Amino acid sequence: MTPVLGDAAKLAASLPLAQAMREHAWLYPAVETLHIVGFAVLVGAVAMFDLRVLGFGRQLPVKALARHLLPWSVGSMLLVVPTGLLLFVADPLALLANRVFLLKLGLVAVAGLNALAFHAGPYRQADGWPPRAPARAMLHALLSLGLWIAVIACGRLLAYF
Ligand code: HEM
Repeated sequence: MTPVLGDAAKLAASLPLAQAMREHAWLYPAVETLHIVGFAVLVGAVAMFDLRVLGFGRQLPVKALARHLLPWSVGSMLLVVPTGLLLFVADPLALLANRVFLLKLGLVAVAGLNALAFHAGPYRQADGWPPRAPARAMLHALLSLGLWIAVIACGRLLAYF
């Protein structure tokens, strides 16, 4: 960890909100519960869309399903990220030294890039897809499912490392 990052983490840990997260017995679990609700909606919405791309529920038009699910997955980020940051500032030095935490954030970034590549790529022609989605679209969907399951696994493992 660089000295600059270490100093920034110490500053974050000294914030009144960070102290409150450590001192009030109910606050941390309440924030973590909201974190879990947030990613349950996020990963639930993403997984339902990925399964459609993989061929489940072919009666549902892909773009119509995306129009329904995308606002939920994007909106849930407004809950996941702030609660994640609150959990983080409760003990930033330990988390920045925790490779599972760094791996988790890395996987979140890769999952985001994968979604961007899908939406900028095969998704643009989704109205014209044959009954079986193009191979590249299915690859993005499989990668997305694998990445989000790995993010959840890393999140859960944080308590043990
Ligand atoms: C974007 C998608 C995210 C998902 C799917 C996710 C998932 C999870 C999961 C499954 C847990 C374990 C919950 C439990 O078992 O009690 C967790 C905990 C945690 N998350 Fe996230 N998370 C996400 C984003 C973030 C972000 C952006 C941050 C911080 C910058 C963050 C920080 C944390 C911390 C510090 C914990 C540890 C809580 C503990 O064990 O005490 N998360 N997350």
